[in-house]
Amino acid sequence: MTEAGTQVFFNPFEPGFREDPYPFYRRILDEAPVHRSLIGGWVLARYNDVNAVLRDPRASTGSIMDPNQRKALLEASGMWDVWQESAVPEFMNNIVLLKDQPDHTRIRSLMSRIFTPRSIENLRPRIQQILDDLLADLDPTNIDLIGDIAFPLPALVICEMLGIPAEERGELKEWSAAAARLLDPIMDRGVFDAADAGLKGFHEYFTALVAERRAKPGPGLLGDLIAAEEDGRGLSDSELLTNLVFLFGAGHETTQNLIGNATWALLRNPGERDKLVADPSLIKGAVEEFLRYDPPVQVTGRSALEPIDVGGITIEEGERVILLLAAANRDAEQFPDPDRLDVARPDVHPLSFGGGIHFCLGAALARVEGQVVLGTLIERYPQFAQTGEPAWRENFTLRGLSKLPLSLTA
Ligand code: HEM
Repeated sequence: MTEAGTQVFFNPFEPGFREDPYPFYRRILDEAPVHRSLIGGWVLARYNDVNAVLRDPRASTGSIMDPNQRKALLEASGMWDVWQESAVPEFMNNIVLLKDQPDHTRIRSLMSRIFTPRSIENLRPRIQQILDDLLADLDPTNIDLIGDIAFPLPALVICEMLGIPAEERGELKEWSAAAARLLDPIMDRGVFDAADAGLKGFHEYFTALVAERRAKPGPGLLGDLIAAEEDGRGLSDSELLTNLVFLFGAGHETTQNLIGNATWALLRNPGERDKLVADPSLIKGAVEEFLRYDPPVQVTGRSALEPIDVGGITIEEGERVILLLAAANRDAEQFPDPDRLDVARPDVHPLSFGGGIHFCLGAALARVEGQVVLGTLIERYPQFAQTGEPAWRENFTLRGLSKLPLSLTA
């Protein structure tokens, strides 16, 4: 947030924003819930405005940046050649999140067959087992919640779903963390190169895995994706590979942040922890509240394919709009006493998984993972305590901790 005269702007590079963006969102909601962005286009913060754009078919993710504008920006920063030679353009051209209709519908309906709520619910005991195995190898008096549980668990789950052998999982987690930085609006050359190397590593790995599976078809998510056909058209090779990489990243960084941010929130709100300890059956609703209170994905964006009237302004054709999901989740019109964590808050419905056609495909999986990990912490280690300073990741779009030292005490 930056002030020019009396006007407040959204600026995630403001000092203090990474540690605690919520006072900044509060001022934006109070003083400038609809404003011109410092980098062009609009910023929306109110729940109803953000929700309306997410659900508007004229709001595109596919043309989120005009190719000529991107080229001009990259040339200005001397990055155009690097960009062209990187794996990033192919990735951005193919992932389901950045596709508009009709390609979006085709790709998403193929992918969604393997994410039905029932198939995910069936995974619950296995997710619990994976967590129990991780816990069994730890000294409970001295753990790093992020490195020891929140980071490995979602990765182990998605690897198992994809049929990736246990011994090959380490490198994939590192690649995924590096590639997640691509979601940030601005990054330096070192971060870009690491992200590109991550994408290339993934691409090579999945190319070999898919070839192996084609030669020897088997059950599981990957086999299903390869076999999936719709109207005679499955996924192209490029679509299959890039969306596998995307699935891995989308399901990994985000869920890790849900677990970390929720635990951090409980540590700072002991009364809410006590409520959950007294009644662990609150856990499902509590996970929705954690998602609202400190969402793993803080912002997203769209561009207008046609003029869109929203919040008293018109987003003109071709203009971009930044949607502050995390601010919308703190809108008092939608959530009474929005800055208070309330694990018993009824009917939460935050915008943390987006909305409309791009609503998170992995929401059911993320919810089960969150419920299993946080429910286990609460039931088995109700006295868990912080034993050192936490650290926040540098990412901005995906907000989460890189370290949270805890002792797990029953
Ligand atoms: C707490 C964890 C998670 C959060 C907060 C989250 C958040 C989101 C959000 C906000 C979007 C929509 C972005 C937009 O519309 O601009 C999204 C889309 C998506 N997410 Fe998640 N996600 C989570 C976990 C997962 C998991 C576990 C998976 C899969 C394994 C996954 C896969 C996807 C996919 C494939 C999309 C794109 C859907 C489409 O474009 O149709 N996510 N997610």
